Amino acid sequence: MEFDIRPAHLEDAAGLAEILIQIGWFSALKDETPEQTRQRVARHLQMCLQDDSHTLYVAAEVRTGRLLGYVAVHWLPYLILSAPEGYVSELFVHPQTRGAGVGLRLLESVQEEALRRGCCRLSLLNFRNRESYQRGFYAKAGWEERPNAANFVYLVTEKT
Ligand SMILES: CC(C)(COP(=O)(O)OP(=O)(O)OC[C@H]1O[C@@H](n2cnc3c(N)ncnc32)[C@H](O)[C@@H]1OP(=O)(O)O)[C@@H](O)C(=O)NCCC(=O)NCCS
Repeated sequence: MEFDIRPAHLEDAAGLAEILIQIGWFSALKDETPEQTRQRVARHLQMCLQDDSHTLYVAAEVRTGRLLGYVAVHWLPYLILSAPEGYVSELFVHPQTRGAGVGLRLLESVQEEALRRGCCRLSLLNFRNRESYQRGFYAKAGWEERPNAANFVYLVTEKT
């Protein structure tokens, strides 16, 4: 299948929401109708498109324009680093399009932009129970796992 990689625009919100709905993993989506998901994705996409601190690339089928996958990266000017780091927060390919080279091309687009921006590194979180981890998707693309790093989250809730 022939596809192009291009920067996302606001009109992509419905196609991006459709990919997430089809993947079906995400707890936030379970409490939403498809229309609410589309609206939320549009709101978040709009925030990302407001300045050049974020980049979203989409893969679109050439024949139909249908979205096949996307990647989001956030450019972080750490004070402790010699140059900014790019944090890849999302890389998702439509379940029916996996294994056709889309994910790798999206990742390469981010790597190329990181080079153009003079970044010193890229980072991301990959759960070990995911097929992508078990099949060594990132390791094969040249990424190194940091064995001594722990990943923490703090859930922000109102105290009663
Ligand atoms: C992981 C993912 C982005 C890879 O994209 P893709 O377009 O399917 O993969 P590509 O065809 O570009 O690359 C091929 C490599 O990806 C991996 N891969 C291929 N199909 C895959 C699948 N169904 N699931 C997971 N990884 C897969 C393999 O390592 C493969 O290398 P190989 O052909 O040498 O075995 C995609 O499968 C996906 O969206 N998975 C679900 C979401 C996810 O895990 N995202 C990344 C974690 S943040």
